[in-house]
Amino acid sequence: MFGQGYVGLPLAMRAVEVGFDVVGFDIDTRRVGRLREGVSDVEDVPDKVVAAALDSGRYTATSAPEACAGFDVAILAVPTPLRDGTPDLSYVLDAARTAGAGLRPGALVVLESTTYPGTTEEVLGPLLSEVSGLTPGIDFHLGYSPERIDPGNERWKLTNTPKVVSGIDPPSLRSVSDFYGALVEETVEVSGTREAELTKLLENTFRHVNIALVNELAMFAHELGIDVWEAIDAASTKPFGYMRFTPGPGVGGHCLPVDPSYLSWRVKRELGYPFRFVELANDVNDHMPDYVVRRLGAALNRQGRAVHGVRVLVVGLAYKRNTGDARETPAVEVCRRLLALGAEVVGADPHVDVARFPVPVKRVELTREEVARADAIVLLVDHDAFDLSLLEDASCVVFDSRHVLAGSLVETL
Ligand SMILES: NC(=O)c1ccc[n+]([C@@H]2O[C@H](COP(=O)([O-])OP(=O)(O)OC[C@H]3O[C@@H](n4cnc5c(N)ncnc54)[C@H](O)[C@@H]3O)[C@@H](O)[C@H]2O)c1
Repeated sequence: MFGQGYVGLPLAMRAVEVGFDVVGFDIDTRRVGRLREGVSDVEDVPDKVVAAALDSGRYTATSAPEACAGFDVAILAVPTPLRDGTPDLSYVLDAARTAGAGLRPGALVVLESTTYPGTTEEVLGPLLSEVSGLTPGIDFHLGYSPERIDPGNERWKLTNTPKVVSGIDPPSLRSVSDFYGALVEETVEVSGTREAELTKLLENTFRHVNIALVNELAMFAHELGIDVWEAIDAASTKPFGYMRFTPGPGVGGHCLPVDPSYLSWRVKRELGYPFRFVELANDVNDHMPDYVVRRLGAALNRQGRAVHGVRVLVVGLAYKRNTGDARETPAVEVCRRLLALGAEVVGADPHVDVARFPVPVKRVELTREEVARADAIVLLVDHDAFDLSLLEDASCVVFDSRHVLAGSLVETL
């Protein structure tokens, strides 16, 4: 299992649970060190699960590439970020080189990382072949299966979320489907790896575009004096043909701000024209942190105050509820803009390691005292761990970007 992060670790634990011998290979030696001590970096995987996997004798965490040799199945769950707006496949390529060096006839290699259609066949297969001297489809099986993990989701887990599976040919598909069939309740076979790669990008682009739609609507509605939240609640009563999405301070995480751009990059490169929906959605969603700061500034202005010099308490630094994942979180941009305007910014988030937060924000707890010290408060994420009534009782400006607070001084996105 290449990559023991948000995707790879839950998968590794599940594979151990159903009886596979699993080598969890990760180049992050600190992460591997913690795993060896039974400590998980992933909220959805409790420490005790890692400890049980270690105790079973069927799980080892390692950074030693030679430990990967001779596998039956290799899963690649490594990062696929954007670098200057362009897909960065370097982690996939590195993992593929290591996997290729340990590849033997009859084995199966599956890519789980989110990527543009064509990666498995055009990039991964040839590299594995070059390193191993083996031919995909003849000497080994090759497939793609997108991860649908939703960190913090109690209802839909790895095992009960249908898993899309694909292979470069029917025997590869069979092999991929059999492997995942042992891990999850339902597999969904698609005819080729490109279709599976596109499936993941379609799912994330769909979310991205719909969030942008309600974000843009929220900005219009505010100016028109219409309660967009009431309209969304009412629309959500329609039992067919409508799916609820809610406005927010911007999109974050490893998926939504990144994945749709993989698709637009591919469309632009292959076909020469832009994927307009994605570009528009990026535009709207990227603008939301700025909009939040402007609304907060306007609220302060109505009190005759400037953003400059005020103490702003930012509540929630993660990209969504009940997770400590701060990758691409809109909180970074909100804090950066407030600091640039001369505010003193303090941040409360019990889940996020502020030392790894890329903006210098002083970490505080969400307490009555902190609320009293603030001149303005922005709620970005409504973690269960927060006592939100403290914000409702605040005597300063409170900007609620999640529509979860009541209170006379609360202003909602
Ligand atoms: N996190 C999610 O919710 C989610 C959901 C669906 C899909 N994905 C996709 O899954 C992929 C992995 O995402 P993640 O969230 O698990 O990332 P992550 O950063 O949590 O974990 C990736 C791990 O891979 C390791 N790694 C990097 N290069 C390596 C290499 N050459 N060999 C072995 N390990 C290596 C990193 O050290 C890291 O620990 C990405 O393509 C992402 O888009 C993520």
